[in-house]
Amino acid sequence: MTLFRARVLDTPEDPFVGDARDPSHLRAGEDVGIVVEGGTITERDDFAVVRAAHPDEAVIDLRDGWLLPGLVDTHVHYPQVRVIGALGMPLLEWLERCALPEEQRLADADYAAEVATEFVGSLVAAGTTTALVFGSHFPAAVDALFTEAARYGLRITSGLVVSDRGLPEPLLVDPRRAAADQAALAVRWHGVGRARYAVTPRFSYSASDAMLDACAEAAASVPGAWFTSHVNENPAEVAEVGRLFRSAEHYVDTYDRHGLLGPRSVLAHNVHASDAELAVLAAAGSAVAHCPSSNSALGSGLFPMRRHLDHGVTVALGSDVGAGTGFSMFKEGLQACFVQGLLGAEGVALSAAQLLWLATRGGARALGLDDQVGDLSVGRQFDAICVRPRGGTALDIGLRHVGSPAEALGKIFALAGDPDVADVWVAGEQVAAAGLRRAAPVA
Ligand code: GUN
Ligand code: ZN
Repeated sequence: MTLFRARVLDTPEDPFVGDARDPSHLRAGEDVGIVVEGGTITERDDFAVVRAAHPDEAVIDLRDGWLLPGLVDTHVHYPQVRVIGALGMPLLEWLERCALPEEQRLADADYAAEVATEFVGSLVAAGTTTALVFGSHFPAAVDALFTEAARYGLRITSGLVVSDRGLPEPLLVDPRRAAADQAALAVRWHGVGRARYAVTPRFSYSASDAMLDACAEAAASVPGAWFTSHVNENPAEVAEVGRLFRSAEHYVDTYDRHGLLGPRSVLAHNVHASDAELAVLAAAGSAVAHCPSSNSALGSGLFPMRRHLDHGVTVALGSDVGAGTGFSMFKEGLQACFVQGLLGAEGVALSAAQLLWLATRGGARALGLDDQVGDLSVGRQFDAICVRPRGGTALDIGLRHVGSPAEALGKIFALAGDPDVADVWVAGEQVAAAGLRRAAPVA
């Protein structure tokens, strides 16, 4: 067993239910003892209580930092780690000029393996322990991602990205081949360690009805498989999808009418959603990955979070690297807060506790992993990060002078960057210590 002593911040209860300003939404412990056995939290109480039960156990004292649950990214592109920062273009131009040329390079398995190492290392460095990852168009590159993620034991859900029109030719595949390749990858990875398979048409813009049928077939053949894609991101994209699918009711329907929407479906963006589409998503129990830095960088629009919540659609956060501007889920939380603020009365005035929920437990719930991760309660896996700022930074100064845990959390979202994520654990295995990554043996 391992006994931790720490200041802990987490959000076991949904802070979007009830009074958003209720301070009890944030569970804060000044001096908490956490016992971890076999990767699972088996005890949590005031440190003095836990200590009394284990008087001789060595203690890992983390009180020079703040212990939070591991962060959850519900939408991030593995092949795009090298193209972050291409600013000032709308979606379709950015895809053509930046993302898709890079994605074609992953046809080379050696290149893909290097990118997989960089990508997984970047997730760990940012404190992301669980992610729904948009994979590559090439099966060997998807193998490279799952292989590298398994070295750290990360909770990765991912799959082969498939398209049969509208993209450069090397990224296209016919639907029969797509179904077979997806099935073979799922056999290799779904349920292996912490990996799960996600059926992943890139977006309806680049998928025919036959391809979406092939995706439905692949999903049906893999029990417990996930589904992810993009929707309603950019007005030009939405208009073109309308032209391509004349008989569909709307963009969401292009997936729904192929049976692709259910409680294991996550659609990214949904900036330009109609009420009818939100009703379909709510009825299906599908989640939306809100990707604020990407939406701003590509000028996609202001995410209607209030309307999603009013319709009962589950919302989580995604970095959307590489249109998104980095891996930090703290930055995504802050950007979500900015965008909702800009929407005024139509937005959601997000509290720090709500940001933490979106970046941890809400994400875990969207990915069906909330029985395992998302907070630091007894029974959960010990997926955790310790935020320990570099000395002399505004975050360091601020955290030394905060008046309340909620203030501390606000400072973390406002000021923390990847270098402030000092330690990272997945299922009790430490995969980064003092900012340095190391692979963990996985049970
Ligand atoms: N829509 C289809 N592909 C992509 C992508 O790679 N990034 C974003 N942001 N939107 C997309
Ligand atoms: Zn995306």
